[in-house]
Amino acid sequence: MTYNGAIRWTSPSNIALIKYWGKHGRQLPRNPSISFTLSNCISDTSVHYDIDSAHDGLSVDFHFEDKPNTAFGSRIEKFLGSITDHLPWLDHCRLKISSRNSFPHSSGIASSASAMSALAMCLVDIQQSIDQSNEPNMMLASSLARLGSGSASRSTIPQIGQWGHCEIPGSSDLYAIPYADQVDPVFHHYHDDICIVSADEKSVSSSAGHGLMDKSVFAEQRYTQAGQRLITLTHAMKAGDLETFGALVEDEALTLHGLMLCSEPSFVLMEPNTISIIQAIRSYRRDTGIPVHFTLDAGPNIHMLYPDEYSAEITAWSQQVIKPLCHNGRIIKDHIGNGPKKLK
Ligand code: DP6
Repeated sequence: MTYNGAIRWTSPSNIALIKYWGKHGRQLPRNPSISFTLSNCISDTSVHYDIDSAHDGLSVDFHFEDKPNTAFGSRIEKFLGSITDHLPWLDHCRLKISSRNSFPHSSGIASSASAMSALAMCLVDIQQSIDQSNEPNMMLASSLARLGSGSASRSTIPQIGQWGHCEIPGSSDLYAIPYADQVDPVFHHYHDDICIVSADEKSVSSSAGHGLMDKSVFAEQRYTQAGQRLITLTHAMKAGDLETFGALVEDEALTLHGLMLCSEPSFVLMEPNTISIIQAIRSYRRDTGIPVHFTLDAGPNIHMLYPDEYSAEITAWSQQVIKPLCHNGRIIKDHIGNGPKKLK
């Protein structure tokens, strides 16, 4: 059998509200998580494939932003080699993969969620042509994305993705599920302004960070807390209760950083301006009553979350107060989006 062709998908990054931090086995999360799928911060990935059952082995030629990239290329090759149980044709093919990000390379925005989910969509699309089925298998897409990078499992989901087994019906450790239809519509138009405090590479990779949890004395309490917070958060989101939502999301970000501060070794991932922005957001909220909240990834950049109706006021304020605290004044404006898209 031979199949060949080319396929192109874009897929966005996402920002976790309840954080996945700690994993085991084959990329299984220690606790459930939930995230907003973004819109503007995307990876755009093309795959040229040549599958021939007479040809033994997998060969991968990976280009990032039009240049060969051996570092990410070997991670991708390892990932593809690890999923031949799901996609046996990967043992008999040549792939040319070319990927680019919409967000600047050195913006400090993690790209593994968007990159791995875009690649997973391409792979599932190839599988769909082999099976001659009408729709891509989205559960498989999220599973494969997870095997590439845990948080990528949530990027295959429009608007709001929930990953990890919990009280929510249908939830699973293997893939993320859509959650947007169970929340108040205010969350369907939420903004995420990403305030770039530092564009440097992270000082600890996510994988190493997850590993730190294995030795943490707080591990068990943390996993229980994340599960409980997820349920409280989903109730608040259903009720449109922005105050409870915001308080939990901020506590989550600070818990993640707290765990890293007291891990062995310890990591301080915030910068002085991270703290200044947190304080500015809190005093603006106190003074105006406007529900703007922050969250953080495992890095120094602040994600400023707020409902659409306050967009004009918050933008005017943040240009004055937040922009000067950002690296080169950079704020990347994003919002909840509809997930992966197939391009011609
Ligand atoms: C802090 O998904 O990047 O962003 O599975 O090792 O690739 P790997 O880790 P990754 O971890 C993300 C950690 C986080 C929280 C989150 O997105 O839930």
